[in-house]
Formats: sequence, C-alpha cells, structure tokens
Amino acid sequence: MRTTRKVSVWPVGLVGGRRYERPVVENGKVVGWYTGWRADRPFAIDMAGFAVSLQVILSNPKAVFKRRGSQPGMQESDFLKQITTVEELEPKANNCTKVPIPLSLQNTYSYLCRLPNTALINLLFFRFLYGTLEQKR
Ligand SMILES: *[C@@H]1O[C@H](CO)[C@@H](O)[C@H](O)[C@H]1NC(C)=O
Repeated sequence: MRTTRKVSVWPVGLVGGRRYERPVVENGKVVGWYTGWRADRPFAIDMAGFAVSLQVILSNPKAVFKRRGSQPGMQESDFLKQITTVEELEPKANNCTKVPIPLSLQNTYSYLCRLPNTALINLLFFRFLYGTLEQKR
C-alpha cells in the first residue's frame, strides 16, 4: 500500500462468494477479475482490495465514493472509473498471488492462538486462507 503511486489492488479473502477474490494479472498488468459475483463489473473488486494515493484524490476533486445511488456492488466500480483505468492499476501482493490477512481476521487469529492446539489452528487457518491460488477465469 505504501508503494502505491496512483491506484493499487490486491486479493481479498472471504468476499464475492469465494474463499478469496483477486485481480487476474498478466505481465504485471490487471487483465480481469477472479470473483464469484458479477465478474462483468468494470472493477470487480471489494473496497478492501484497493488503495488510492492522496495525490489522485486531490487531483480529482469531483470523484466521489457514493454511499447511495450506486447499484448494489457497483460502488467500487463507480468510484474507481472516475479516477483510473483497469490498465493503470498497480498489482500488489506479489502480482496478486498472495491474500493479505484483514485486520478482523488477524484478531480472530490471535484469539485462536491462545487456545491449545496452536499448530493445528495455524495449519487449518493458513490452508483455508491461502488455499491454492491457481489462475482461474
Ligand atoms: C510481476 O510480474 C511482472 C511481469 O511478469 C514481473 O516483471 C515482476 O517481477 C512481478 N512482480 C513480482 C513482485 O513478482
């Protein structure tokens, strides 16, 4: 996130009806979306899956992330298309092959680690989260 020049993207776990969804990256560029839900959206990405540099926000003063008025699930696309294009997106997390662990799950995880069987919990948790990140379209 810190290295975002304009708009960066990465996979998100447990959204879109899948264990994870992610931008499909080829030659360092986003070329599509792996998601369980409406892959036809211009930016088929969850709001937890992108970062926008402050420069971009400041130089697009009219760009808005609408709380209402967007069709369900279209908020991200409606926002991102005002400030960038799919070609411009910067894939993070090793060309979108890694699923960063969201804060809410980090908390769950640290709670689970206080229970006995830590090794087993580790194994299950990481197998579940990372799974096999094969390229699917
Ligand atoms: C992402 O893919 C591009 C093109 O294949 C490659 O040059 C680059 O090193 C890759 N980045 C990472 C972090 O693996």
